[in-house]
Parts: sequence; C-alpha cells; structure tokens
Amino acid sequence: MTTILIKNIQIITMNRKEEIFIGDLLIENNKIKQIGTNLNVNTADKIIDGTNRTIIPGFVQTHIHLCQTLFRGKGDDLELMDWLRNRIWPLEAAHDEESIYYSAMLGIGELIESGTTTIVDMETVHHTEHAFRAIAESGIRALSGKVMMDKGDEVPLPLQEKTTESISKSVELLEKWNGFDNGRIQYAFSPRFVVSCTEELLKEVKSLSDHYHVKVHTHASENQGEIQIVQKETGMRNVVYLDHLGLANDRLILAHCIWLDEEEKRIIKEKGVHVSHCPGSNLKLASGIADTPYLVCNHASVSLGADGAPCNNNLDMFNEMRLAALIQKPIHGPTAMDAKTVFRMATIGGARAVGMEKEIGSIEVGKRADLAILNLHNFHTYPSYDVDPISRIVYSATRADVETTIIDGKIVMENKMMKTLDKEI
Ligand code: GUN
Ligand code: FE
Repeated sequence: MTTILIKNIQIITMNRKEEIFIGDLLIENNKIKQIGTNLNVNTADKIIDGTNRTIIPGFVQTHIHLCQTLFRGKGDDLELMDWLRNRIWPLEAAHDEESIYYSAMLGIGELIESGTTTIVDMETVHHTEHAFRAIAESGIRALSGKVMMDKGDEVPLPLQEKTTESISKSVELLEKWNGFDNGRIQYAFSPRFVVSCTEELLKEVKSLSDHYHVKVHTHASENQGEIQIVQKETGMRNVVYLDHLGLANDRLILAHCIWLDEEEKRIIKEKGVHVSHCPGSNLKLASGIADTPYLVCNHASVSLGADGAPCNNNLDMFNEMRLAALIQKPIHGPTAMDAKTVFRMATIGGARAVGMEKEIGSIEVGKRADLAILNLHNFHTYPSYDVDPISRIVYSATRADVETTIIDGKIVMENKMMKTLDKEI
C-alpha cells in the first residue's frame, strides 16, 4: 500500500456542491481515501506541505492528436482542408515508429506539465502501436485509437487503406490496449471525419463500438468546406448523417461542432452526444466560433480539447479555458461563458464525456487520484484567498503555475520535474 498525504491545501473539489476549502487529502494507492480539515493521519509514504497551494481535479482533454505534436509551426496560416491536404496528411504519411513515439512523448510531457491527466487522443493510420507505447510508459490516462481513412482520393497514397484493413488493424490494437494498466488506457475508434470514411466503415464502427462498449471519437461540422463535401456526398449534414448510421449516442465524442443547425443541436442533446469544444484550434484554422453557450444552456455535454499542437501551438488547457470564456464575451455578454462553467467543462465535463464521471473529474473520496497542484501566488493582488481561485485559474494561470501532477495515485511530475519522462525526451 502506498500513501500520499497532502496537508493544508486549498481544495477545489468540483463535487456536486462545488465546495472549495482548505484541508488535507489522503491518497491510498490510486484512490482518494480521505478529505477533511486536520485529518488524523500521522504517517504516509510521502507528505506534501500544501500551504499556499491549490489542488484541482486533473484536466480532461477530450480532443488531442499526439501524433501531430512534431508538426507544430507547419501551415500556420491555412484553413482546414488545405492544411490537411498540403501539410498534415503528408506529414502523417511520413511518420515512422520512432517519430510517432517521440511526437506522443513530447505531447504527453506538455500535457502533464500543464495539469492534464486524461486525454482522448486520435492517432494516424500507421504506427499507432508506438503512440500507445508512449502512453503506457508515461502514466497518462488516455482513450486513443488509430485513425480510420478508407475514402478520399486526396489522401496521400500511404494513408489510404481498405475498409477491412482499417477495421482489422483497429480491432487488433483494441484487443491489445483496451483496459491496459487497470483501465488507464482505453481504446476509442477514430474514424477521422465523414469526408474520409465510407458508409460501410462507419456502420462497422457503430457495431464494433456496441460490441466492445468503447467510445467513437471523430471530427464534425468544423469547417464550411468540410460540410459542403459531406452534404454533396451524403445529402445530409454531419450530425444528421452520423445519427442516420446509428452513431449518435453517448459513446460518441465529436470534436468542434461549430456549424450546427437546429436539428443537429437537437440530436446532440437528445442522444447524449459529447461535444469537444476546441476554441484555440477553431480560431487558428479560421473555422469559426462554436455556440457553446447555447449547448451548455440546453444541458448538452460540452468539454474541452486543444486538438493537435499545430492547431494551436500548445496543448495547454489553461489556454483553451481562457479562450472558451473570452471568445463568447463580445458576442453574448460577460457571463455567457463564465469561469466556473469553463472550469467545469475542463474537469467534470471531460470526465462525463469519457464515461468516467464516477471515477475522475472531481476531488471526492473513492475517486481515482488524478490531481494537479498549483501555485496561484504568482499573481499580484492583496494577499488573501478572497480572489476567486477558479476565476484566477481560468483568466490568468499558465502551465508554469502547475507544480505537481498526480495520475492514478502516482506522482508523474513534481516541482516541474517529469518523473517518468526524464529519460525519454
Ligand atoms: N478534421 C479531420 N482531420 C483533422 C485534424 O487532424 N485536425 C483538425 N483540426 N480537424 C480535422
Ligand atoms: Fe482534431
């Protein structure tokens, strides 16, 4: 049994009452064992003094492409379809076992350093095995999968695959990695987007996700050019088409969802589809501004993701939270996306999207210990706890403020020293 005691720390619980208080927290193995003020615990394998520090649930990012970390800076001023055709697809096609491993490790290092403890990741067509290897070694919690692309003449030859091959390779990876390390790794089918997938493939993904009870992770309604292609080929809008194939359910995670019509919004809400909002990417690729206030007000599931590093130039959840709040203010007013709503999306909202709201996303006894310790005192104001810590985090924290990251009860970064990654990068 391993125990970690964190003493005298400000705890932002994100429990049902969203309580915030100063107290102690005891971790036993991979779970939160006790929370309270002045816990009567005298010994632990490790004791952390949390004075003047804040502990939060680790961030859950619901849309990431680890394989793209090394493509940062490529095609900075392009729109989605040109960016994919001219930059990203040729680069993905050029990946080998080593480059995908290091791309994933670098991305994971940045994620852990900025307090992200769970990701929903989409890889590329080949070598996904080596991204899983990086995920396994690093300690991050991840749902990941090989990209599926069995359609599209524009896709470079090395990335084109046959439907049966795309499915068999995905199932092979699923059988190897789903459930690895006590469920820390899960498989998620990853048909890239409707543009690159045949109907046959998408139908098979639907029945396989039912059979294996795993998530489906894809992009939808991100860009006008993409929507026109889908409309031309299927006669439908993205979400309507996915619903028509039976894919619209609470196992579906849809990245972006910017250009939704009323019917698509209704389907998302009624079928419990999870939207991964990626404000940084949506701005940088000139895709648009998603109507997240509408979705949130209508109780749709909305969480956050940084997308691939080149969509954004970093993988930092602080950046996404801040943008998610700021971009709505000039359109819908100052409280349309307030700090607490955004922080909820980044923590418990992400946990809900990955189907783990009973296990992660908040600091509660019995939950898995996925946590980040922040130093919010690099902020010049009257020295007191009167500053709303959630507002402080959303509007001004940076990855430099994250001191320690804990995943599944293991300290993976402490005082900015990466534990498992030191020797790898
Ligand atoms: N749509 C299809 N593929 C991609 C991708 O790699 N990134 C983004 N942002 N959108 C996509
Ligand atoms: Fe993406």
